[in-house]
Amino acid sequence: MSTQTLITGTLPISIEVVKESKLSEIDFHNLPFGKTFSDHMMICEYYDGKWQSAKILPFQNLSLSPACNVFHYGQAVFEGMKAYYKQDESGIVLFRPEKNLERLNKSAVRMSMPQIPEDLFMAGVKKLIELDKAFIPNLPGSSLYIRPFIIGTEPFIGVRTSDRYLFCIILGPTGPYYGEPISVLVYDTYVRSTKGGYGNAKAAGNYAGTLYPVEQAKKLGYKDVLWLDGEHKKYVNEVGTMNIFFAIDGKLITPETDGTILEGITRDSVITIARDMGYTVEERPISIDEVVAAHEAGKLTEMFGTGTAAVVNVINCFGFKGKDYLLDDKAFEIAYKIKGMLEGIQKCTTEDKFNWVVNVL
Ligand code: COI
Repeated sequence: MSTQTLITGTLPISIEVVKESKLSEIDFHNLPFGKTFSDHMMICEYYDGKWQSAKILPFQNLSLSPACNVFHYGQAVFEGMKAYYKQDESGIVLFRPEKNLERLNKSAVRMSMPQIPEDLFMAGVKKLIELDKAFIPNLPGSSLYIRPFIIGTEPFIGVRTSDRYLFCIILGPTGPYYGEPISVLVYDTYVRSTKGGYGNAKAAGNYAGTLYPVEQAKKLGYKDVLWLDGEHKKYVNEVGTMNIFFAIDGKLITPETDGTILEGITRDSVITIARDMGYTVEERPISIDEVVAAHEAGKLTEMFGTGTAAVVNVINCFGFKGKDYLLDDKAFEIAYKIKGMLEGIQKCTTEDKFNWVVNVL
């Protein structure tokens, strides 16, 4: 075991390196999403009103009191980001990491949790990537997925803001989240968020509430759910774990960020790329009735979801009120063009004209 200390702007990070790497156990050609983890992780505790020293350790279980806030009242927020090898393997990059920190801190504020200092976040992520760079796959659609999260750890069974937290970063090589076109069920019974709620926070509870409806949709043969708004159950909200886009009459339409949907970094990147390619992108409420009418008129040509884990994932069917509406994903153009451009920027094969890529090594 070797230990060293990395000094960041305000907080030291101590590093304990694994004795034996588990790299040889990994099958890089078979990487289901989120099941494989690298050798190291970072943890940092918050108490006495401040973040304490951080530690990079061998990946391991946490030891927590069963009375911790996170187990009872769910103070938990997280992020998803990815590190890539440049296509020519000349370096390693992150994609818009400052946006992940911004959103993590916004989610933390909404869930009444302390914010993470920028130097701690960036130094932790970069050091972990440096230590575990051998875990970054260089295969199409694969990357090193990085999962920073914060949980409330005060051992106290009472409903109030915790006074102790744990900030943790884990990471692992992964393939695509869905990896194939998906069919989705439009739910007008269950919703994932509503105005005044916290649908725009990347909070664990937002996802927990979707699990039961998604299981119901799977029993009916769909891969995931297309969520409608909480108030009218009429306007499209998100799809699965992604933001949603429709191509209607040659224009892209996506719901506006009204506080009920995740302010997706991939969503923002897709909008920027699409506009740069000359497409009109409308960010506005779009009702499921408008989507159905466009399908019936032959004007709905594409449907896709966007997210860090999924990147751009096409949708080839949506079920609504007992009827399935099919789309020919092989004829999609806009989705694949944008996906190609985005992945090109992420893998540094396409000019990074928006300055999104950050060199790590
Ligand atoms: C992501 O896209 O990175 C996510 O966090 C979504 C999901 C895997 C929960």
